[in-house]
Amino acid sequence: MAKRKTAGRGKRAGSTRGSGGTQQDAIALLKADHRQVERWFEQFESSRSDSKKSELAQKICEALTVHTMIEEEIFYPAFYEATEEKSIHHEAEVEHDGAKKLIAKIKSSGPQDDYFDARVTVLSEMIKHHVREEEKRDGMFGKARQSDMDLKALGEQLAARKAQLMGAGEPDSGMRRQVSTSTPIHRSMARLAKRMGVA
Ligand SMILES: [Fe+2]
Ligand SMILES: [Fe+2]
Repeated sequence: MAKRKTAGRGKRAGSTRGSGGTQQDAIALLKADHRQVERWFEQFESSRSDSKKSELAQKICEALTVHTMIEEEIFYPAFYEATEEKSIHHEAEVEHDGAKKLIAKIKSSGPQDDYFDARVTVLSEMIKHHVREEEKRDGMFGKARQSDMDLKALGEQLAARKAQLMGAGEPDSGMRRQVSTSTPIHRSMARLAKRMGVA
């Protein structure tokens, strides 16, 4: 397999512990995300309360939004560059696209929607399939371990970006905050437009 030079190469990092202490390597971090979301999907399935379902669906959608984002921004490009495994890389991205569409639908609906449970169930099935593909022996993570990707350095980058996105309350909440911050400006612009007779 031909390999090109990449900034993320140089060291194999199979350990979850490096000089920085308990820093997870990239694969350990991404797998921990997978396990967390699986637990929430299981809780959703056994939940009978609408408010609990709504809370879990929200957590699942936020976690998956951050997870797919850090994979697409950091891990997937490093994987593709180091291994040139085009079909594994492209199929993973296409699966993300499918999940994102469903996530958007779930976020804009709620347990009162007749299709809400069906959407979360199908999302769970899609994610199970996707996670199996990423984690299987000759899947993306297995091939990444066999490559000379610097998984420890990538783990640090993933953790930093994840913290940044979660600190912003995940991208959508960040947008919500932005909207609420700008509301007074919008209000004064609306008043101004009204005074000018254009609204
Ligand atoms: Fe993943
Ligand atoms: Fe993924």
